[in-house]
Amino acid sequence: MSERDDQMEQEKNRIRVAIDGPSGAGKSTIARAVAKRMEMDYIDTGAMYRAVAYKMLQNSVSPNELQLIEEMLADTDIDFAKGNILLDGEIINNKIRTPEVSALASECSALAPVREKLVRLQRQMGEKKSIIMDGRDIGTNVLTDAEYKFFLNAKPEERARRRHLELLEKGQEASYLQVLEDIKQRDHNDMTRALNPLRKAEDAWEIDTTGMNLEQVICTIISHIKGE
Ligand code: DC
Repeated sequence: MSERDDQMEQEKNRIRVAIDGPSGAGKSTIARAVAKRMEMDYIDTGAMYRAVAYKMLQNSVSPNELQLIEEMLADTDIDFAKGNILLDGEIINNKIRTPEVSALASECSALAPVREKLVRLQRQMGEKKSIIMDGRDIGTNVLTDAEYKFFLNAKPEERARRRHLELLEKGQEASYLQVLEDIKQRDHNDMTRALNPLRKAEDAWEIDTTGMNLEQVICTIISHIKGE
């Protein structure tokens, strides 16, 4: 088989699933579970923005130092392997889940050089394999021709309730009102930024997960993909 035939064969069998939605809608947990059950790779694009923010913090680079950010990005390698996210070869799974990284990830995801680099990487990751990718602009920008697109949503109060519970379960102190405030702020940042803002793709299927449990959402998505 020629290289071109091989590529066409790969593309024919490849399925790409885009899952977008606001913070706290359960996207990553749901996307990870669907990927596992359907034996596909899972790409958490939010983790990639977090990785850049983490590296900025490590190198004391602030969001207004665009020249430094571009230099830093030219020398940055982000990859996923065996369920881990790697930044320049180092596993950083837990290091990117702090409030400090969350806040900076939200800011740096509005910067053109950051988005350009990460969107390019994300498209490459979706070229050869079947993947499930979650984020904010997957259906509208990164994989506009994805075979399946979902938009997961839930009321801010419901998303804050879930996030608050998660933090308490991890033993972290948190006020529900503060969590709600943070969620509303992130919704505002994600939806109003100039570059690739959060919105539902016209051809995405919206699922309001308010009042649904994880299993119900996972099964709804899998049934849709399988055409049941
Ligand atoms: O999903 P998350 O909370 O891990 O995402 C971290 C930040 O990255 C969040 O502020 C939104 C941003 N993001 C983005 O702009 N585009 C994506 N495709 C994914 C995340």
